[in-house]
Amino acid sequence: MCGIIAAASNRNVGKLLVQGLHKMEYRGYDSAGIALHQDDGIAHLRTLGKVQLLEEKMISEKPKSKLGIAHTRWATHGEPSETNAHPHKSQDSIYIVHNGIIENYVQLKEDLKQSGYEFLSQTDSELIAHLLDHYINQGQSMVEAMYAAKEKLEGAYAIAAIDIKDNTNLVIARNKSPLLIGIGADEMFAASDPLAIAQQTNDFIFLEDGDVAEISANTYKIFDKSKKEVVREITRINISAEATSKGEYRHYMEKEIYEQPEAVSNTIDGRIGGEDVLDNIFGLGSSDLFSKVRRIQIVACGTSLHAGRVAANWFSSIAELPCQIDYASEYRYRNPHVDEKSLLVTISQSGETADTLAALNYAKEKDYLSTLTICNVPTSSLARESDFSFFTNAGPEIGVASTKAFTTQLAALMLLALSLAKSRNLNPKLRGRVVQALRLLPETIAEALNSKDQMTEIAPDIANKDNALFLGRGIFYPIAKEGALKLKEISYIHAEAYPAGELKHGPLALIDENMPVIALAPESEIAEKLISNLEEVKARGGTLYVCADPSVNMDVKSGKLIHMPECDFFMSPIVYNIPLQILSYEVALLRGTDIDQPRNLAKSVTVE
Ligand code: G6P
Repeated sequence: MCGIIAAASNRNVGKLLVQGLHKMEYRGYDSAGIALHQDDGIAHLRTLGKVQLLEEKMISEKPKSKLGIAHTRWATHGEPSETNAHPHKSQDSIYIVHNGIIENYVQLKEDLKQSGYEFLSQTDSELIAHLLDHYINQGQSMVEAMYAAKEKLEGAYAIAAIDIKDNTNLVIARNKSPLLIGIGADEMFAASDPLAIAQQTNDFIFLEDGDVAEISANTYKIFDKSKKEVVREITRINISAEATSKGEYRHYMEKEIYEQPEAVSNTIDGRIGGEDVLDNIFGLGSSDLFSKVRRIQIVACGTSLHAGRVAANWFSSIAELPCQIDYASEYRYRNPHVDEKSLLVTISQSGETADTLAALNYAKEKDYLSTLTICNVPTSSLARESDFSFFTNAGPEIGVASTKAFTTQLAALMLLALSLAKSRNLNPKLRGRVVQALRLLPETIAEALNSKDQMTEIAPDIANKDNALFLGRGIFYPIAKEGALKLKEISYIHAEAYPAGELKHGPLALIDENMPVIALAPESEIAEKLISNLEEVKARGGTLYVCADPSVNMDVKSGKLIHMPECDFFMSPIVYNIPLQILSYEVALLRGTDIDQPRNLAKSVTVE
C-alpha cells in the first residue's frame, strides 16, 4: 500500500505535495517521487528512502509547477529502489501514481510488451502508464483512456495521471483503494487520505468504486462506473494541525501513548448515562437489532484482532454470547458456518485494511443478521460499507505501532458488550458496575502512565536481549500478545506470548538468564496459579518483570515487581496494557530504531 496525492492550482504545488506525502508516510515509506508539469516538460524526481530525501532533492532542484502528482511507496511488486518508485511514465509523456495491486499484471505486461512498450521497473503499476498512453495514441482523451484502461485492470487501485500535452488537467480513478478530492480556493487536490491535504482544505469528496474524475485548478468533474457525470456529496472535516503534529513529544507514538486518557474519554463521552449504556449508540435501530443477536463473529488484523480477543471474554461474561474470532486474512478461506442470528463485527483503526474489507464483503454475501464496524476513521471504506458503524474518536493515530487506537477499541468493545447485554435484558447490576468503572477509566489510565519511571529502569535489561517472553492468563493472554507484538514491531526484538499455564508444555525449555519474562498478574481467581507458573521461571534462572495488582507480593529476585493502580477487574486488561506500551517505546528508544516508522511495516495495509 502507498499514498498518492495530486494538485492542480494557480500557485506552485511542489512543496505542498511533499508536505502531503509526509502526512501519508504511515502508508509506506520505502521510496517517494513526484512528477511536476513545467513549461518545458515534466520534472520527474524520485528517491529511495523516506520522503525527507525527496524533499532535499526538491530543495536542490527547485522545480516550479502548478500541476503535479506524488507518491510514497510501500513495496509490493519489485524491491524498494529509485527505478521502482512512482511516478511511473510512458514515452516521457504520461506519468502516473498508483496505490493498490493490479492482479492480472503478468498478462497485461506481456500484451503491452508485444505492442512495443518497454518496461523500466519491476512494478505492476508501470503498465497503467503504458495502457493510458496506448489509448491516448488512438485518439482518446485522458478520461476515455482511463475508462478503457479500467476495463483491462483487475485488482485494487487509486490512480492519478498527468499528460505532458495538458498542463491544466489531471485525471484520477478509484477501485477498492481510498481516494478523495479536496476542494480548495482556486485549487483542487486528490489524495489517499484527507490528512494529506488537511492544511489546504476542509472540504472533501470521497470517490466511490468505479469513479473517474478530471480535475483542474478551478473545477472538477466526476463520472461513475457507467461513465455518467455525477454529483457526489461534499464532506466537511476539520482535522486540526495540533492533532497531526508531535507537539512536545519525540515521536508520534509517545504522544499517542500519553494522550490515551483523553482519547478514551472521547470514546465513552455521550455514550453512557447514569448506571447504564445509552440506547442506540451503535446506530439508529442497533438496540433493537442487538436483542436478536445470538452469536458474534469478529474479523480483524494485527492489534485490532487482539482487541477482539479481549472482547470475546466480555461478550461471554457480560452479554452471555458466544464469539468466534478470525484473522481477516484467514476468515474467507475456512468456509465459516454462519447462522442468521450472528452479528459480524469488524474492528479496524484505519477502516481501510484490505483483508478486513475483503472479509466484510465476503460476509455481506452470507446470512449474517447484520454487520457492524468499530473503527477510528468515520470516512473510511469499512464505515461506508457496514450496516452499523461505531467511531472510537481517538483522533488521528500516526505512529505505525497502534496504541491509543487499541485502547479506545477496547473501550468501544466494552460498550458493545454492555449494549448487547442491555438489549438482551441481562445483568443490570453488573452493567451498572462496569459503567461506573468505565467512567473512572481515563483517570485509571492516567495513573498507569505513571509506570513510566519503572519501565525506563527495566528497559536497558530488555534492550540488550534478543528475545522476550510475555505471559498472561485468560483475558490477559491477548494483552500479553499485544505486548509482544509492540516490542517486535518497534524494537525488532523477537517476542512471543503464552498463556502462563502453557509454559510447562514447551516454552520453559527457552528459559535462562537471557530470556526476560514479562508477566501480567492482576487480582483474579487464577492469580495463585499464575504465581506458581512464575516460580517455574524463577527456578530456571529467568528474570521476571511482573505487572501486578497491589495485593500481589512475590520475590522477583533481580527482576522487578510493578504495582498497577487498583481497578475493576473488567477494566484491568485495558490498564495493564499501558505499561507494556511504555516498555516497548523505552526499549526501542535505547535501541535507536525508527519508532514511528519501523522497517518493513506500514500503518494501513491496503493490499491483501
Ligand atoms: C497494520 C498496522 C497495525 C494494525 C493492522 C490492522 O499491520 O501496522 O498496527 O493493527 O495493520 O490495521 P487496522 O487499521 O485495520 O486496525
